[in-house]
Order: sequence, then C-alpha cells, then structure tokens
Amino acid sequence: MTAIRTTPLHSDFVVEVHTAIPDILNDPAAIQELKSIWRKSPVMIFRRQALEEDELVRFTEHFGPCDKTVRKDIQSPYHPEIIYFSTLKYADGHFVGGFAGGEDVDWHSDQTYQVRPATGAILYGTEVPRDGGDIYWANQYQAWEDLPKDVQELIDGRSGLFRYAKRYAMLNTLELKDKAKANTMLSLPDARHPVVLTHPETGRKALYADPTTLESIEGLSEEENARVLPLLFEAGGHPSLTYRHKVYNGDLMMWDNGCTMHRRDNMRLDQPRLMKRTTFRLSADAYCVPQA
Ligand SMILES: [Fe+2]
Repeated sequence: MTAIRTTPLHSDFVVEVHTAIPDILNDPAAIQELKSIWRKSPVMIFRRQALEEDELVRFTEHFGPCDKTVRKDIQSPYHPEIIYFSTLKYADGHFVGGFAGGEDVDWHSDQTYQVRPATGAILYGTEVPRDGGDIYWANQYQAWEDLPKDVQELIDGRSGLFRYAKRYAMLNTLELKDKAKANTMLSLPDARHPVVLTHPETGRKALYADPTTLESIEGLSEEENARVLPLLFEAGGHPSLTYRHKVYNGDLMMWDNGCTMHRRDNMRLDQPRLMKRTTFRLSADAYCVPQA
C-alpha cells in the first residue's frame, strides 16, 4: 500500500502532503489514503506542484464531480472545469479570469448563499504575488467545540438564512463595477442551511455560520439573533483555530468548505497572479454537506 507522508501544519486541522500529485493520479489505493487523511485534516497543502490542467481536473474528480461555472469570462480556455483568478490580461485587454481583487478578504465559506453549495475546493497557484495575499483557514469543528454550552444548545438543530446581498454589501468597489454579475447574484433566493453540520462518518459537528451571508437563525427572536450571531462569527474566526499560509508558486491547497472557513490578506494588484481553481461537489454520505 502506498504510504503518503504528511506533516502537521496546525494540530490535525491542516497538513502538508508530501506527494507529487501526478504520481498518485492512477493509484486508487493512494487516493483512498488521501481521502482518509482529508477526513481528519480538512485542509491539505501540496507544495511545489507542476500540474497540467487535465491532471488538476482528474485529481479533483477523484473527490467529486466538478462544478462548472456558467461564466465563460473566468473559465480556462482549455478546461471548463477550471476557473482563473488573475491580475493578468489577454492581448485584447480582458482580464484572464476573474479579477478577484476584493473577494475572499473576510472570513467565509464558499457558496453558502447557494441552495446546494458545492463544498470541495482546490486552489492551485501557478504565479503568486510576492507580497501579501496570505490565505487563512479556520477550523469549524473546533469553533463548535469551543462555543459555550448554552449557545450550542440554542443553535444545534436549527437552520439559518444565507443571503448573497449581505456579502455583496461587504465587497469592495472594484467588484461592484460588474453590474450584470451583481444583478444575477442579487436575484438569488435565500438559501436555508443548518448552522451546525455533522460529519456522517465521524459524527463530529462543525459550525456553519458564514459571517458574509448568514442573515438570521430560524426560530430565534430578533434579540436572540442579535446576541448570538456576533458570538458565532467571532468564534468562527478565533485566532486559536486558524492557520496562515504564505503561498508560493506551485502550491496546491485543498479544503472542505463544510467544516472550514477561509480568508485572504489584501495583496498587491500590480504583481502577476494566476490562480487556478476547481470546485467540486462532495457527497453527503462522506462529508459535512449542508442539507436543510
Ligand atoms: Fe472563498
């Protein structure tokens, strides 16, 4: 059996995986082993990878089917499963992929405003700015465990309303320029998800309270919401449960949005950046997937 070597980067929450991804793409035993590592450590960092796009897609699809965006402007011209975030421009002046100057700066979990979020995420940095742009993840299993008992009892088993408009109001002005995109997103209906997710295999509970989208918790009075939501948001990003990653060229970062949150430092927009991203749907049989 393949033995995959890992080094903890933060408790059992974040591990570095010492494997060249192309070496395990066709090795089902190694993929199985990686899945069991990921179950315990929902953020995995693979450094200095040199991946073709088809390898990135094949690797991703071992974990779940890729979510394909309808936005052609941010898609890879080679693989519709991959989107780009970049400061670079094509020869005709269009940005390569999403400009992404302002998103991802505050703590959040991806797609929480969607009725059915795709919770698997891979971000692969092929060209990374030298300054700023560090990425942080926060362990939402630990956030749940650290909540006071009375707060746990108040929110366990309840659902929340998650709204894109809340995130929109927090984005910076560069993002607001894209009116067509904004109008589509703002017309999304509220999503309803449990605010505590339970892993179907391990039974571990994770707080699922994205500060950028969670509007209110059902069944709580206005006063209770006003008291509890700030507590949850503070707990979710508490420094004791966060890991900070300085990203270098070739780093591939993989995380499960069902039990983690992330944010990014501001970065220099005058330096070249090309990040490749896949988003994939995890099965509710094996992962913390929000299902109301
Ligand atoms: Fe994100």
